[in-house]
Amino acid sequence: MHPAQRRPLIAGNWKMNLTRDGAVALARSVARHAAGACVDVAIFPAFVHIDAVLSALRTDGTEVPVGAQDCSDAPNGAFTGEVSLGMLKDIGCHWVLTGHSERRHVIGETDDIVASKTAAALGAGMTCVLCIGETLDQREGGETDAVNERQLRAALGGISPADMLKLVIAYEPVWAIGTGRTATPDDAQLAHAAVRHVLQDLFGAEMAHRTRILYGGSLKAANAPDLLAKPDIDGGLVGGASLEAGEFGAIIDAAAALAVSA
Ligand code: 13P
Repeated sequence: MHPAQRRPLIAGNWKMNLTRDGAVALARSVARHAAGACVDVAIFPAFVHIDAVLSALRTDGTEVPVGAQDCSDAPNGAFTGEVSLGMLKDIGCHWVLTGHSERRHVIGETDDIVASKTAAALGAGMTCVLCIGETLDQREGGETDAVNERQLRAALGGISPADMLKLVIAYEPVWAIGTGRTATPDDAQLAHAAVRHVLQDLFGAEMAHRTRILYGGSLKAANAPDLLAKPDIDGGLVGGASLEAGEFGAIIDAAAALAVSA
């Protein structure tokens, strides 16, 4: 059962997928499905598709937050290939992911870089979904909670309580991303509870209680009900399954059914 102030959030991270037309069509379909649902829904298309997706949703009169998968921590200047928070806000994009495991482990972003981007995003008034999670080696070495704690403290050490109100955490065990392997609901719950404990230590019980912690890693319609039923799992950050409107819609429905029964 989720406390009333933690409205579930189902977010789709589309990663480096889709054409512009495909992204617009998928966004329209997700927005139609999300309309009237008693859960929050957000989508994260590739940078080059965000503007077209926002325009289409505006034309349709539907409202689903459209976010970016990354951002620069610099306001402007000679940073070839980067996209600033000001540029995102200028086109109506007010959500951003930071610290996704593919940026940490494939692109090589450090805890310090993730911290800087998270602070910049929150400072710019964006809603920020901070991603954390352990690798397989770290899990097998019993380091899951320590890794999550290190990533949290590094990213949130300088964040004000006011900015925390616009922060969502996504716990994504790296070994579960795109592999078809999910954490068991019990294992995920333990990790989420430990994350909330760190939030309590950093910001106090009330902030820890109201901050949403999403699960990500091979989340799909079939496993969503069991994972989302756990008390400290407040929604999902969905990769592969968010690329199919029907599958993503079924995850939204699972979260909505649990919210209604809570
Ligand atoms: P998958 O759902 O494809 O495992 O990806 C999870 C993820 O990385 C979402 O950000």
